[in-house]
Parts: sequence; C-alpha cells; structure tokens
Amino acid sequence: MNLETNANLPPAGVQTDFPVPPGVYAETAVSVRHYTEKLFMFRMTRPPAFRFRSGEFVMIGLPNAEKPVFRAYSIACPNWDEELEFYSIKVPDGPLTQHLQNLQPGDTVLMRRKSTGTLVNDALLSGRRLFLFSTGTGIAPFASLVRDPETYEKFESVIMTHTCREVAELGYGIDLTRQTYDDPLVGEEARECLTHYPTVTREPFRVTGRITHLLESGKIFRDLGIETLDPEKDRCMICGSMDMLHDTKDILLQRGFKEGSNREPADFVIERAFADNDEGNT
Ligand code: A2P
Repeated sequence: MNLETNANLPPAGVQTDFPVPPGVYAETAVSVRHYTEKLFMFRMTRPPAFRFRSGEFVMIGLPNAEKPVFRAYSIACPNWDEELEFYSIKVPDGPLTQHLQNLQPGDTVLMRRKSTGTLVNDALLSGRRLFLFSTGTGIAPFASLVRDPETYEKFESVIMTHTCREVAELGYGIDLTRQTYDDPLVGEEARECLTHYPTVTREPFRVTGRITHLLESGKIFRDLGIETLDPEKDRCMICGSMDMLHDTKDILLQRGFKEGSNREPADFVIERAFADNDEGNT
C-alpha cells in the first residue's frame, strides 16, 4: 500500500468532489458527537470574517453536488466562540441530513455567508426573567443564548425548558447546561441565573408532559418555586415544531404577551426548529 497516496485521500464521511458555489464559505468539521440514532451535533471551523448575533441561523450544505442542498440551521454556540456548533436531527431520506449524519472530522461543510433570525436579545424588550421554551432540536438557538454574557446582562433569571419524547433525547441539553455552568466566561452568572427544566412526553421521567400542559397546569412554576408568567416582567422565546409554536404562542397571547421582531421588539419571539422531520420545507 502506498501510504503517501492514502494520506491524501479525503476523509471517509462525505464526498467533496464538487466546486464551492459562489457566496458560500467552505469550512472544515472539527468534531462530531452522536447523541441518539436520530440526533447529533457537530462543530466546524469559523470563517474569520463571519459575524452573527447569538440565536441566529444560517444555511448549511455539503459539497456533494453541483448545486448543493442547503437547509436552515440555528447556530448553537455564542457569537464569541472560535468555532461554530450545530445540533441536527437525522432524517433517513432527508435531502441534507441523510448525508450530513455521516460527517467526519476533516470533511468540508458549506455555509452561506449571511445569518438571520428573530430569537435574538435585540427582538425583546428588557425584562426580569427570560423563558426559553424548546422541543427537540429547537434547543439549538438557546444553546447559543445561554452561553452569551449579554443574556445575563439583560435578564436576572433565565429558564430554559426542553421537552422531548424520550429521556435519551435530553442528552445535548444536559451536556450544554453542565458546560455552561463550568464555562470560564459565563459560568458564574449561569450558576446563579440559569435554570434548565427538561421534560419528557413518552417515557417515565422526573417531569413528564408537554410544556404547554405544564404551563397551563402551573406545574412548572410550582416545581421551580417561581411566580407564574407576567408580561410586565417576563420575556419569552419559543423554538420547536409548528404545532408547538402555535400552541405555546396561544398561551402567551392569552396572558397578554405581545409578539416582537427585530424591527419592533416586544415580549416574546418565535422560530421554528430547523432541519426537522419535514427537512424539505426550508
Ligand atoms: P408528544 O410526545 O406529546 O407529541 P416532535 O418530535 O413531534 O417534534 O416532538 C418533540 C416534543 O414536542 C415531544 O415531546 C412532543 O410531545 C412535543 N410536542 C409536540 N407537539 C406539541 C405541541 N403542539 N405543543 C407542545 N408540545 C408539543
């Protein structure tokens, strides 16, 4: 075997034979971690010129076709991170994730140059408590925000809820919270201000049920020993499936919260979780 030739072969994960399209960064996967058969995270190099606001999303693709498929992905690390982190579902026949799930360190990942999104601190008025309601991969933008010092400058307390079908699907959020508490930059504030509230809907767990039910029954407030939602002092962000967004938003509207945007900051903002089961829509 000719070792020299072998060393020059591309890594085994993803085919990289096609040219990089214009207006797109070609970055390198640094690490990949699989949480379950359906969920994984990866980190990749960050283009030196790339700027984003914590909570925003970008379009991600692979150099495996002349015209590669791009899907929206929330950036799961804060804006000060030297690398970029993403958290993804694996859809067996998903146009992007059927390939992306085979990603290996050293493989090329494409990223369009512009980030955007509404789950940003700028789209909320100031307040005392920040509630981050997520299901499934919808925790990704919050993985960015809870590691951003600006979040703790703006809010006295941050409550991040994460609801999944099964206990194993909570792994990323549990690791994230542990890392955030240990983080040299935000750890001290996070240990004081950040509460992680994981719940499961299809298996036994210490807290079970959809976040909508836990809000309506008031169980979340009793469990955490905190006051119920109040639009005067609370701000909220929601990220999950379309149904979850709709139902959680309804609860907030009923309680007098107003939806905000980048142009008109208000009491809550929403964004659907990207690269989800219906990967083809984005
Ligand atoms: P459930 O198991 O009761 O459907 P999915 O994988 O379908 O996106 O679901 C992720 C999590 O979001 C599940 O725990 C699921 O609960 C929950 N969920 C699904 N639809 C809603 C909804 N309309 N409101 C609140 N939570 C929801």
